[in-house]
Amino acid sequence: MNENILLATVFEKGGYPKTTLPEAAVCGRSNCGKSSFLNSVLGVKNIARVSSKPGKTASINFYNYADKIVITDLPGYGYAQATWATRDKWKEVIDHYLFSREQLKMILVLADVRRGMQKEEIELVNLFREQGLKVSIIFTKADKLSSTELSKIKAQVLAQISNLWQDMRETTFFTSSLKKTGLDLVKKHLQRICTEK
Ligand code: GTP
Ligand code: MG
Repeated sequence: MNENILLATVFEKGGYPKTTLPEAAVCGRSNCGKSSFLNSVLGVKNIARVSSKPGKTASINFYNYADKIVITDLPGYGYAQATWATRDKWKEVIDHYLFSREQLKMILVLADVRRGMQKEEIELVNLFREQGLKVSIIFTKADKLSSTELSKIKAQVLAQISNLWQDMRETTFFTSSLKKTGLDLVKKHLQRICTEK
């Protein structure tokens, strides 16, 4: 089953799989939980390698989600950690993908809930919105906080998000890949946006 989920691994501009399905791209700083989130959404154990480090392998991976949506990951994009020798080339590859991929419908910006939204995440959201892409913010690792702490932080980040972008409160989600919480709402949202005409 797993071999049908990873559709392609792309290292160069172009060469994207020729699919017609709507596409959603995932990005976020290293260690924020992208691979774990992808595995949970795709319903597999370890297709997106939890050990993979941006900067070591710069690739866009294309995953088939239930034959309905293609989900891609953009490791290291927009983050200061991505300071390896081929950084400029990598940015060029991702920019090409972002500008030319017609079926790209939305971007999921992931962030560790304990760190909240920082400068890099805010810049990324602005960049994608300027390009007319639909953006969703997914906070990860909600299980790392007690329910009292989580409520407090939720209120804070939602206030921050409403302040920055009035319309993004409804497209913000709190998840835990470990406890599998919050994922159903994200999946519903993904399907709704990706099937919109
Ligand atoms: P890079 O590929 O290096 O950019 O990291 P990533 O964003 O793909 O993160 P990854 O999924 O590899 O997770 C990083 C670490 O966080 C691992 O040790 C995971 O087990 C842990 N982690 C991810 N999601 C969760 C979660 O929901 N809860 C908890 N408690 N730990 C998590
Ligand atoms: Mg990863």
